[in-house]
Amino acid sequence: MKKMKLLLLALLGTATSLLAEGIYPQITNIDNRRTTPLNGNWHYIIDQLETGYYDYRRKPTEFGFFLDEKQENPKLIEYNFDTSPTLYVPRDWNSQAPELLYYEGCIWYRTKFDHKPTSGKRLFLHFGAINYQSIVYLNGKKLGQHIGGYTPFNFEITSLVKDGENSLVVMVDNKRQKEAVPTDNFDWWNYGGITRPVTLIETPSTFIRDYFIQLTKGNAGEISGWVQLDGDKPQSEITVEIPELKKSIKLTPDSKGYAKFTIKAKPQLWTPENPKLYKVTLSGAGETLNDEIGFRTIETSGSKILLNGKPVFCRGISIHEEAPLRKGGRAYGKDDARTLLGWAKEMGCNFVRLAHYPHNEQMIKEAERMGLMVWSEIPVYWTIDWTNPDVLANAKNQLEENITRDKNRCNIIIWSVANETPVSAPRLEFLKSLVERTRQLDNTRLVGAAMEKEEIRPGILTVHDPLGQYLDLLSFNQYVGWYDGLPEKCDRVNWEFPSDKPVVITEWGGGALAGMHGDKSERWTEEFQEEVYKANIRMLKRIKGLAGTTPWILMDFRSPKRPLTGIQDGFNRKGVISDYGQKKKAFYIMQEWYKELEEEYK
Ligand code: GCU
Repeated sequence: MKKMKLLLLALLGTATSLLAEGIYPQITNIDNRRTTPLNGNWHYIIDQLETGYYDYRRKPTEFGFFLDEKQENPKLIEYNFDTSPTLYVPRDWNSQAPELLYYEGCIWYRTKFDHKPTSGKRLFLHFGAINYQSIVYLNGKKLGQHIGGYTPFNFEITSLVKDGENSLVVMVDNKRQKEAVPTDNFDWWNYGGITRPVTLIETPSTFIRDYFIQLTKGNAGEISGWVQLDGDKPQSEITVEIPELKKSIKLTPDSKGYAKFTIKAKPQLWTPENPKLYKVTLSGAGETLNDEIGFRTIETSGSKILLNGKPVFCRGISIHEEAPLRKGGRAYGKDDARTLLGWAKEMGCNFVRLAHYPHNEQMIKEAERMGLMVWSEIPVYWTIDWTNPDVLANAKNQLEENITRDKNRCNIIIWSVANETPVSAPRLEFLKSLVERTRQLDNTRLVGAAMEKEEIRPGILTVHDPLGQYLDLLSFNQYVGWYDGLPEKCDRVNWEFPSDKPVVITEWGGGALAGMHGDKSERWTEEFQEEVYKANIRMLKRIKGLAGTTPWILMDFRSPKRPLTGIQDGFNRKGVISDYGQKKKAFYIMQEWYKELEEEYK
């Protein structure tokens, strides 16, 4: 067994290096740095057979599209970015051209940018996310590759960027694969492309690459954290200030540029009702970096979730990163975030489950400003290839990139490692290691996963998943009244749980076509969906230890698994709001229940 583990660890090492080839450690807090956005119209070439990467014997060619050459007689060049069409970046390609709606494969993107190097400065190229895998080239030279469709990555280009015009070429491939994360089977649209912003970041030669500043776990009177410098003067003095708290601390990092600290303080605690954020300034090493940080504690006690030591009921809703009001596409940026989160607030939510993958950074930041707690999840979804070390390395990498990016967002209260994964020994090993890694990276938040329920005896429902013992919550999906019986079944089942951890039901609900009305017994009518919601709420009210829920789902979303003509038409219709913003009757059932709960927990 030990030999097996050592072999697995060795393979893991190789796998991780493959994943992170050329990638520079993630630079955080992009919004507040000296940046140049590279967003806009990029030329693109559809390349189904990856002719731009392989020769006719399927060997990588040195004369690929990444050279960004011109067809000038007598040279034979069979591509030309300048005369090819354009796609807007950031945005998925599926929603930008009818012929791309179902496209899954390789697309090459090319943009050009001018740069004037400044002596003593460093330059980095940052991608908010690319779905699903990408290889990045600057002026014909490969910078590296990234795998994983929902987390940021960056490269240092200080020594490669030219004084003047530069050619940036990105090969993107969103083909689904059995050994990917997620695998080749998932209930959402496989939006491909450069779906989040592309940014140049200029820094001093030594700069503040990353930091962590939150309340010490379980201690509302102490702020703790660390700062990580990067550059040739790693022990440059850094000052961390929180002016409104009249706190300032000087740090001298170690030879690796790392310094940790604690500050005694009594900040006003962040709550959904009063989402207080403090301006925090980190200065030194030739730069000043600002952030807005909230402080709160989150823990469990028996079946209660305690926010700042007080029991809270997480009045939530699940949300896909689906663009509102645009007939699908990836949501991105502040406006989409404000629309989606505004609907959640209107429903009476204080919590959102951002399914099934890390959403764009603006979604988390807007939720923090609006007073919404967040369940953040990586796409370890359904039937992952559990015994493949490359897959574990990929899942771990996405977990680490997600936590690195968002660890200073106090409204994230739960890191989730999986959704509806089938119980087996290899799966348990895989997920246990993700839970352990999560706690290593951040012990200040709860760890969850969306497990599945089972009917152990007729009418008795429970969650018997061995993963549960490693989680802080008893979190699971159930569809009584939709997939499992009809709404009346809700009134004749009872739930038994193996532990007294807080119960968070992370999915339930049913579908309806907005505007389709009829008897409440007629599936797909708003009345049927309303009855599913009413019956489930009656059932949830009977569950002892229920501490929160995130019904499935805020808004209808595109999925290739939902073809029912005239009703689904390629959309999953479980939204309580349609994709064009029409609220269904179920929305108001939730709004009414959450109003009651808000009063109850005042
Ligand atoms: C599952 C799954 C969701 C899916 C939903 C549904 O629970 O987690 O991703 O969309 O059920 O069937 O609508």
